[in-house]
Amino acid sequence: MNKEDVVKFLIRKTNKDIKTARAFAPSNIALCKYWGKRNQVLNLPNTSSFSISLGDKGTTTEISTTDAPNHLVFLNDQEVKNTSELYQRLTAYLDLFSLPKLKIKTHSTIPIAAGLASSASGFAALVSSLNIACDWQLDTRELSILARLGSGSACRSLWQGFVEWHAGNKADGMDSYAEPILQSWPGLCIGLHIVNDKEKSISSRVAMQRTIETSPFYKEWPTIVENDLANLKHAIQSMDFTLLGETSEANAIAMHATMNTAYPPIYYSLPQTLTAMQQVWNLRKKGIEVYFTQDAGPNLKLLFMDKDKAQIQKVFEQLELVNPFN
Ligand code: PMV
Repeated sequence: MNKEDVVKFLIRKTNKDIKTARAFAPSNIALCKYWGKRNQVLNLPNTSSFSISLGDKGTTTEISTTDAPNHLVFLNDQEVKNTSELYQRLTAYLDLFSLPKLKIKTHSTIPIAAGLASSASGFAALVSSLNIACDWQLDTRELSILARLGSGSACRSLWQGFVEWHAGNKADGMDSYAEPILQSWPGLCIGLHIVNDKEKSISSRVAMQRTIETSPFYKEWPTIVENDLANLKHAIQSMDFTLLGETSEANAIAMHATMNTAYPPIYYSLPQTLTAMQQVWNLRKKGIEVYFTQDAGPNLKLLFMDKDKAQIQKVFEQLELVNPFN
């Protein structure tokens, strides 16, 4: 099956009469990562993953039709050049749906391509606004499948709070979608420690594939994920913050260990990233519970409880705070 077949299977209506529509999707960070695909075309993962959404940090997308000869894309009020990678990626995705030419205005409250999952909220917001604009009447599970075709982690950005993406095992990916975990955790905080907000040097797509093909440690990854997923679910049910933090941090370190041992090796960390890790560990030595996670970029996302916020901000002065459950 290719992407077009998935789209045809899910959307039975024709895309006439497109109205102007707007939708927001939050960014998400994985506490148990998605790293490695079993199908690169459909973005089907080797393992399930587990994330938390970032509240009001994300993407708002507005869609309307245009008489222009090509799709028009605006990011934060600036027109995106049709030669850019972003434009190509977006319009290749839109072409799956046989739509008239569209004007797409997106506003992002997060740095693009800084390993802060901007493509995740971008594709989730796009598919949610298309669902309204074209009156497809799809449910969130179906939207999650469509968002996955744009970017794997986008399938987790349809909800706030904790979300699990089931890897599934069908070849067509119809059982590979995300679902919310209806458990709230007041007081749980995320801090974005931005070391560098420039484009990442190597895409997660390329990095994942190289890891699978060349890292001698990738074979351990499914077992690590299985254990970490169980621990995260247990941590959430029992509101055990230590278990949540330790599991998330170890999972991120394990993911980076697999890519560090790929060939040629992949290191997203910068010297400032390692300094920040040391600062997290020093705070823990002093009894302040803070943990980090890291995606395909040099930035860290810190996890801590509201009561420790002031102490942590003394060390991480520029921290951007997110309250996922407020
Ligand atoms: O969805 P992609 O292709 O941007 O890959 C995301 C990969 C990680 O952010 C490193 C992990 C994850 O689960 O979000």
